[in-house]
Amino acid sequence: MNFLEKYRGLIKEEIIKNAFNTAPEELYEPMNYILDLGGKHLRPVLVLMTYHLFKEDYYKVIKPALGIEYFHNFSLMHDDIMDKAPLRRGKPTVHKKFNENTAILSGDALLVKSFQMLEDLEPQLFKPCFQLFSETALKVCEGQQYDMNFETQNKVSFDEYIHMITGKTAVLCACSMKMGALLAETSSENASNLYEFGKYLGIAFQFMDDYLDVFGEQQEVGKKYAGDIYENKKTILYILAEENANPEEKKELQYWYEIREESQEKISNVVQLFKKLKVDRKCLELVNEYNNQAKKHLNAINLTEEKKQPLLTLIDNLLIRKS
Ligand code: IPE
Ligand code: IPE
Ligand code: MG
Ligand code: MG
Ligand code: MG
Repeated sequence: MNFLEKYRGLIKEEIIKNAFNTAPEELYEPMNYILDLGGKHLRPVLVLMTYHLFKEDYYKVIKPALGIEYFHNFSLMHDDIMDKAPLRRGKPTVHKKFNENTAILSGDALLVKSFQMLEDLEPQLFKPCFQLFSETALKVCEGQQYDMNFETQNKVSFDEYIHMITGKTAVLCACSMKMGALLAETSSENASNLYEFGKYLGIAFQFMDDYLDVFGEQQEVGKKYAGDIYENKKTILYILAEENANPEEKKELQYWYEIREESQEKISNVVQLFKKLKVDRKCLELVNEYNNQAKKHLNAINLTEEKKQPLLTLIDNLLIRKS
């Protein structure tokens, strides 16, 4: 995927160029720290790629793209506190390396910086982009709240789960694509198809994130192994296990998910149950299903196959990603 490296390289360069060098260092250093840890840069890549569907000069939209990456990293700083996560991208999380207050305040500052990246847009673009971004940011908070509510809620339906991950993850991918479309000033029909593409892609992306928590290679994933099970997260693996379990297995699952302390025994039993119920295979089937849903929305757009190919390649790579 050479094209992907091109976009990613540009984003990485710009992150470095725009590093925060202001005082107080205690506030800005953790912001640079998390951004320097890298990551896949999926969301800003989506902004650039979507814009590039319609216009060539995609460097023009680098600032809003960077803004979305800042927002993503802000959300991770706070998410890692909420999820008690020690590792991010293979390195200590901000609240572990520094402390919790720092992760809260530097996160807040990064959120403000993300909105500032829209400041230079022309007035006719500023308003719709700002509205989209702030609506999305609120939905992410709603999703994150459901994610936490579900930790202590035993019965979570598939639909409730989809609603939760649509908020915490999918809408930011959808927003990235719609922002690319708005900036390229394409038709509103195209913009909404691209929003839907991003939403289904984002849902499939979160399925994979849940999958990698248990079935990924910890070195590559860069997060604590089975962190979601420790925290009683209602992931797609849990939902699928619950759907496919017999009454006895259901009881067992419930028993383990009521334990709040760190327990190796819990992890190995839950993982065993997941494997027995073949939730890994079922999860990958769902990734495929949502990828196909996403593709329908791309197909509805009147562009050459050649133009669409990079986005189709990107989404197929979600199926085989390792981190
Ligand atoms: C992690 O996002 C949080 C989710 C919404 C799943 P990514 O997997 O995109 O994280 P990075 O930026 O590549 O590290
Ligand atoms: C994070 O979801 C979503 C947001 C940060 C908004 P997760 O909690 O599943 O992400 P990871 O697994 O910590 O990266
Ligand atoms: Mg987390
Ligand atoms: Mg979380
Ligand atoms: Mg996760």
